[in-house]
Amino acid sequence: MNILLLGSGGREHALAWKLAQSPLCDNLFIGSGNTGTEQCGVNVPMDIMNFEMVADFSEKNNIDLIVVGPDDPVCAGAFDFLSKKGFKTFAPSKQAARLEGSKSYAKEFMKRHDIPTADYIEVTKENLAEGIEHIRQSKAPYVLKADGLAAGKGVLILHQQEQAERALRGMIEESKFGDAGSKVVIEAFLDGIEFSVFVVTDGVEYKIIPNAKDYKRVGEGETGLNTGGMGAISPVPFVDQALMQKVEERIIKPTIDGLVKDGLTYKGFVYFGLIKVGDDPIVIEYNCRMGDPETEVVMPRLKNDLADLMMATFDGTLKDKKIEEDERACCTVVLASGGYPETFEKSKVITGLPIEDQNVMVFHAGMKRTGDSLVTAGGRVMMISSFGDDLKDALNHSLRVADSIHFDNKYFRRDIGFEFN
Ligand code: AMP
Ligand code: GLY
Repeated sequence: MNILLLGSGGREHALAWKLAQSPLCDNLFIGSGNTGTEQCGVNVPMDIMNFEMVADFSEKNNIDLIVVGPDDPVCAGAFDFLSKKGFKTFAPSKQAARLEGSKSYAKEFMKRHDIPTADYIEVTKENLAEGIEHIRQSKAPYVLKADGLAAGKGVLILHQQEQAERALRGMIEESKFGDAGSKVVIEAFLDGIEFSVFVVTDGVEYKIIPNAKDYKRVGEGETGLNTGGMGAISPVPFVDQALMQKVEERIIKPTIDGLVKDGLTYKGFVYFGLIKVGDDPIVIEYNCRMGDPETEVVMPRLKNDLADLMMATFDGTLKDKKIEEDERACCTVVLASGGYPETFEKSKVITGLPIEDQNVMVFHAGMKRTGDSLVTAGGRVMMISSFGDDLKDALNHSLRVADSIHFDNKYFRRDIGFEFN
């Protein structure tokens, strides 16, 4: 069959790498892809937010399955548009994607379906005074979330009351986050340890794939600014059977049943951003797509044929699938451009690739080809994923490779998975 994968980051390289291994996959196209995905299939320059263009290409190339990688096209309704044109589209419907696209929608969904999440109130222009009063009545830290997609920057965790009040006013009165912040969710702060669980679902049945934990802060020891993610590990050591049973009973099942009850169509990945408080899992957020860089450790550990799993969400056979996980640990280290997530320089020549090592997968992200050279073209340049006997061993492989690849101002964390090593 012919598959079109949309997106161009490290996540999409990992998905393309996995899809290309499927015996079911005759031709893989990636729109627009990157220097890594071109090794897995054919990159096709396209505007993935222009669904007309995507449909047109899919028609001309007899595409049997469209896989949507990033949140933007998912939340903008890629599924609805492309399904109407007759294409099997692996993504949630626009309405279901509000679980990621609107914090307030997600909170109401969880409340309605009795899914554990932090207590909250919603604040708009109309009840700003109530919001301010709420902050005055609560204890620090204060968690403020812009309602809409804000490129991962919509969550503020503040330690002083005055600061929180000012931020809330800024979000609502001065539109500091644009439209995304015209509604704000103020949430109770949860003190615990985060982890992520992923499922493939057809909207009725689900299969749990390998879990992961990402490291979002730029600095070692989880310090400094938030980034898209500086590394990830799988599996997460403290996620044992007892915890997973709670996650499944209290969170996954009611979420999928909630989709059914609310009449929401969903063929895709659900990413459960969770926090373990005491012995209990609580939902921090839903994402309606895979994570980046979590995909770069989840896909290597997933033994199943990914194309087969995705197709199973369209023909009612998902419930018959059995997920098989690689027993080995996997760790990914992100090589970034110095300065990221703030300003950084581009077009630095990259040397040291390719890496010939069966246990190491280098997933490309912000990279470009200029003549015969590979050069940097983004903040997160590449993800180095390695298998190991344990997480420490996997990290050491990735670090060895990270040291052997060069570009000016290369930056990476050496401590991914530090709590467990
Ligand atoms: P979100 O975009 O909702 O995932 O939030 C981004 C990050 O903020 C999360 O990964 C957590 O580290 C943190 N966070 C969000 N909500 C809370 C909360 N209620 N309590 C503590 N930390 C939170
Ligand atoms: N790494 C976090 C995310 O993809 O949302």
